[in-house]
This record gives sequence, C-alpha cells and structure tokens, in this order.
Amino acid sequence: MYPFWEVPLITSGLIIAIIASFHMLPSHLATGAFWFNYYIERQAVRDNRPELFDFLKRFTLLILIFCFVLGSLTGVAIWFSTTVASPRAISALIHNYVWGWATEWVFFVLEIATIYVYYYTLGRIDKESHLKLGLAYALSAWISMVIITGILGFMLTPAKWVETGGFFDGFFNETYWPQLFVRTSFMMSIAGIYAMIVASRLKDEALRKEIMRKAGIWGTCGMILGAIFTLWYLHKLPPSVKEMAFEEGLPYLKNLLFVAGGAYLIVGLYFIVCATVRPRALGIVSGIIMLIVLFAGIGAGEGFREGARRPWVISNYMYGYQLTGISHDVLHIENEVGRFEEEGLLKNIYWARTLQLTKEHDRFKAGRILALYVCGNCHSFEKDGIIRPLPALLSSVGVESAEDITGFMDALGDYPYMPPFPGTDEDKELIGEYLATLPKGGE
Ligand code: HEC
Repeated sequence: MYPFWEVPLITSGLIIAIIASFHMLPSHLATGAFWFNYYIERQAVRDNRPELFDFLKRFTLLILIFCFVLGSLTGVAIWFSTTVASPRAISALIHNYVWGWATEWVFFVLEIATIYVYYYTLGRIDKESHLKLGLAYALSAWISMVIITGILGFMLTPAKWVETGGFFDGFFNETYWPQLFVRTSFMMSIAGIYAMIVASRLKDEALRKEIMRKAGIWGTCGMILGAIFTLWYLHKLPPSVKEMAFEEGLPYLKNLLFVAGGAYLIVGLYFIVCATVRPRALGIVSGIIMLIVLFAGIGAGEGFREGARRPWVISNYMYGYQLTGISHDVLHIENEVGRFEEEGLLKNIYWARTLQLTKEHDRFKAGRILALYVCGNCHSFEKDGIIRPLPALLSSVGVESAEDITGFMDALGDYPYMPPFPGTDEDKELIGEYLATLPKGGE
C-alpha cells in the first residue's frame, strides 16, 4: 500500500476534479479549434482571399498562448494529482496502457511542434504548404483525443479486457465509439464559439458577419450531432450504471445530466441565432459567456462519466479504495478484497505493523489508518466536510456508536455505489472505534 494523501474537507478526488475542469477548456479548444481554422484557410487559399489571414493569425495566437501554457500545466497537474491520490489505479492503467499514452504523447509533441511552425510561418511560406501544416496540427490534435478516449472509456466499461487482458479488447470498449463521436461533435461546437469570439474583434464588418455565420453553422451541426451521439452513449452504458443513475442509488448523477442538458439548450439556441437570425448582434461578451456555459455542460457530463463508475475506479477490476475485486489467472490478478477479508487489511499496511493493538492510543491510530484507506478516497472526515462528510452520513443512517458502525461495515457492499469492506472483523472493530470518535453531525 502506498502512503495515503489526505485532503481535509474536500478529499483528493475534488482536487483532481478541479484541476481536470481547468484542463478541459484549453485541451478541448486545442483539439477542436483548428478544424475550423483549416476550413477557413482552405477558403483563403482556394479563393485567394488574403483578408482571411488576419483572422487566422489572431485565431492561432490565442490558442498558442492559452492552450499551450495553461493546457500543458494543468495536464501535468492531472498526472501529479491522480498519481498521489490513487497510485495503485494509475499504476494499473499504466501497466495496461503505457503504449497508448506513449502514442498519445507522440501526437502531442507533433501538435506542439506544428502549431509553432504554423504560427511563425503564416504568410511566409507558400500557401499550399502552410495549409498542410494546419491540417497536420488538426489531425495530430484529434488523434491524441482518439487515443485518450479509449483509456477514459476503458475505466467505465473495460469490456472483454476483464477476461482477456488484451489491449484492444479494453480500448475499443462498448462506450468507445459513442464517446469519440460525442467528443468530436462538441469539439466542433467549441471551435464554433471560439471562432465567434475571435471574429467579433474583426474590424471588417462583412468579414465578421461571414465568419460568424459560418461558425454558427459549425456550432449548430456540432450540437445536433452531439445530442444524437450522447443518446447513443447513454444507451450503451451498462445496466448497472443506468440503474444507479436513473432509478435508485445516486440521484446527483441525474442532476448532472440535467445541468448538461440545460447548458446544451442555451448554447444550441445561441448557435441557431448566430447562424441564421442575427450574426452581428452577438459579441465577445456573449461569446465568452457561452463558452463558459458550454464548459459547465461538458464538465457536468464528465462528472457523470466519472461518478457513474462507482464503486469502482476501474470498473469490474479495481475498487475506489484501490484494491482489486476480481481474480484472474491469465492476467495474474488476485482478488485483494478476498485476500484481505481473510488475512486482515491492517496487517498488510506497512506502517501499521508496529502498532500494538492492546494499547488504546495505537488502536486509535490503527482505526484512523484503516478508515483513511477504506473510506478516505470517497469521504471527508470532518463534521462540516464538503465531500460526503462521514459524520453527517453516519448520523443520517443512525449508526453512531462504535458497535453500530462496526456492524454497518457488513452492509457497505450492499450499496450499489460502495465497495464491500476489505478486512476482517478486527479491522471492522478498529474502524468502528475510530469513526465513533468523530464529532456527531449532520441533519
Ligand atoms: C468508492 C467510493 C466510496 C467508498 C470507498 C466508501 N463510500 Fe460511503 N458512499 C459513497 C457514495 C458515493 C455515497 C452516497 C453519498 C451521497 O448521497 O452523496 C456514500 C454514502 C455513504 C453513507 C450514507 C449511506 C446512506 O444510506 O445514505 C455512509 C454512512 C457511508 N457512505 C459510509 C462509508 C464508510 C464508513 C466507508 C468506509 C468504511 C465508505 N462509506 C466507503 C462512496 C463511497
């Protein structure tokens, strides 16, 4: 077991979520925007319209600065935070998908190289070659998404991988194609909004109007396709996830979908107005607001995808507390939960070995270590904790005494969103004793 990263009030999960939300804007923009850029540049070259290059230059510079500074920083931050929060889960992913990431990084390097060359050769080399550079960027950025989507999808729906351990069996899983198409469609919409924001600063009236209208059409198409593919995605979710999200279990998952749907309607309407009714009336402020609304929607969608995985961190393989829940000969996986139920979890935690359970103080420490490992990835321990505070939740189900909490450990696995308790009766007692010392709380 690795050391545990305890984050008071909010848990390490929320730290990752915050960083990932910041990452979403630059990363999606970097992936999607250049298809629109390519489309406009092709027109500029084919119809010989030099005035469009002014737009292209502004369009690229902002991406270069914004995406490649903020995007890279937050991307690295995701690796750091997920690695300290869930080292065993990251290790499992790397063991299976290291070549996936290696391939993604090749395209990522290509992306960085081509956008710099693209920007600094704009207007300086022959137009056809420059156009190809733009296409090279758009393609490599999109291919990095094609790859990362496989790994993201794998975490929720690992498909046949659970039986075979095959790279592509998990990569091309049941939510892969719908998710790739959803992301590609919304990528077009993001490109559309971004193009509108850049175009709204153009002085040339006619040009501004023309680009606004084109961007509006891109955005509208992206939204319509995005909706269709989202329905396909939802349809492809495993029955257990659908049940947890739509019937019983975790009502907040459904709420996230409502937020995503609300954002969708607002942005969709905006595009229709831009594309058809009054492209000129819409300016930079409304564009930025729409970008934020769209990202709130996408963020809610990502939150749904992440939340729907519970109680697993990698579905049907590793639970949220980072212990494997299946055994498999071919994959050399042993069911750790099963093993710890027999051997005891505490005995297998390196820095708890010297604790003497006959001493009161050591029992408290042992209980705290166990509680962190078993509950701490998903719950905060403070009375006024923000992420699922245990004191309030335990009080709400009426288990407050040490014995009751110990007994409750047997019920953990009955919840659709919580994993079974991975330890012996002694572990349960220790956790019960410790959790009973937390302040009682909640409504
Ligand atoms: C994989 C994540 C995960 C782990 C690990 C986990 N829980 Fe939970 N737990 C949840 C989620 C999600 C909820 C639903 C809370 C909500 O409504 O937001 C929940 C709810 C609860 C509730 C309220 C249940 C109810 O009927 O309302 C209690 C009590 C609770 N957890 C205790 C624990 C304890 C104690 C541990 C450790 C021994 C633990 N949980 C481990 C995810 C987890």
